Amino acid sequence: MMDTTHPTNEEMLKRIRSTPIGQLDVADTDIFRNEAAAFTAFDRLRREDPVHYCATNKLYGPYWSITKFKDIVEVETKPQIFSSEAKGITIEDNLLGLNVPMFIAMDPPKHDEQRMAVSPSVAPDNLAKMEAAIYERTRKVLDGLPIGETFNWVDRVSIELTTQMLAILFDFPWEDRRKLTRWSEVASASEESGSSVVASQEQRMAELGECLAYFTRLWNERVNAPPKFDLISMLAHSPATRNMPPMEYLGNLLLLIVGGNDTTRNSMSGGLLALNRNPEEYRKLCARPELVSTLIPEIIRWQTPLTHMRRTALEDATVGGKQIHKGDKVVMWYLSGNRDPEAIEQPDSFIIDRARPRQHLSFGFGIHRCLGNRLAEMQLRILWEEILKRWNKPMQIEVVGEPVPTDVSILFRGLKELPVRINA
Ligand code: HEM
Repeated sequence: MMDTTHPTNEEMLKRIRSTPIGQLDVADTDIFRNEAAAFTAFDRLRREDPVHYCATNKLYGPYWSITKFKDIVEVETKPQIFSSEAKGITIEDNLLGLNVPMFIAMDPPKHDEQRMAVSPSVAPDNLAKMEAAIYERTRKVLDGLPIGETFNWVDRVSIELTTQMLAILFDFPWEDRRKLTRWSEVASASEESGSSVVASQEQRMAELGECLAYFTRLWNERVNAPPKFDLISMLAHSPATRNMPPMEYLGNLLLLIVGGNDTTRNSMSGGLLALNRNPEEYRKLCARPELVSTLIPEIIRWQTPLTHMRRTALEDATVGGKQIHKGDKVVMWYLSGNRDPEAIEQPDSFIIDRARPRQHLSFGFGIHRCLGNRLAEMQLRILWEEILKRWNKPMQIEVVGEPVPTDVSILFRGLKELPVRINA
């Protein structure tokens, strides 16, 4: 049966093109339900009013949209003016209603101290130690895939591999690793976006309580053992984090679980879809597998798994010629900055051999730039290297049905189903 509660794609596009620019409100799930609508809306904002004030959003209240690459960089590099701590880092106040402290939503100096405490877990020498385990797990997952049969890439590959990557990072009990997937989904299931992952806020908090209890057990085991290079051991032993109150421990765990999970997973699914929709690029990759190194950042740009981050102005400031006032909500739309033709050539094309593929905002910028960016890139690189060793013909992993997006969200961009067949 046709869903009549939402405008059709055509209606939505028409509405976006005809709305007076001052009244355009991009923080609207109806816009995000339809990719073309979202990109059209951001295109208009970048051209007509790149630092744009919306006074009328019913869910989130008034907010500024920063839509150009250079303006986003400017906001990101002034954390003393644009705070992550005041009201959180998403357009919805206080982090999707979670309201637990985590260092992504802190300002210096506390942010810097906590970030430094966990940084060694993703430093190059530790990543090199994790590499062999990630190769081994990735090979195992790929070798177990059916040939000539339709299956859901998201579940069999993207979720499984991302969950395994996190389990390695936490040194998490292997047989329980899918708990990490569930906790990530529960933590990011915002009530306001109408998510179906949990039935109520009570259920959500109860499940996150289980998460805290589980990790507290791991903490207690590790705090009394010699320090190791997994994340729990690092948090338990570092002077900056070892006296954290339980809710702050939970917050930082959720940050690492959610930060690493949906984002990397959706890049694994989105990348395969992008290659299928751009067969010329898929052919290029098969002819020159060494292009994996530029393919990966392009996938991450193209997918932009987190559409935005938010700041709150601590004082009056000017951005792009507009006067922002103390207390204002400032939303940096990475999805738009990543399609800004002033910063990226042919931004609306998926091109796997770009000269400057890391010129994107999917990991943010400045002091909060994604801590796990090298880990995510490494996992994606290993995945594509191993895919091409097994299946090196263009479109050999073929998308054979309609991709199903995750619950509509104005923060996360991803897929829950991607039906594929590996052709022999
Ligand atoms: C921060 C994106 C993977 C851990 C961030 C931010 C973004 C982001 C946009 C905020 C940046 C800002 O405010 O300037 C992504 C994407 C990923 C990914 C697109 C995958 C493709 C990971 C992984 C981990 C991770 C694998 C770790 C396990 C973090 C942490 C922060 C962060 C801890 C907070 C950094 C801080 O506040 O200093 N990420 N992330 N992320 N990410 Fe990631």
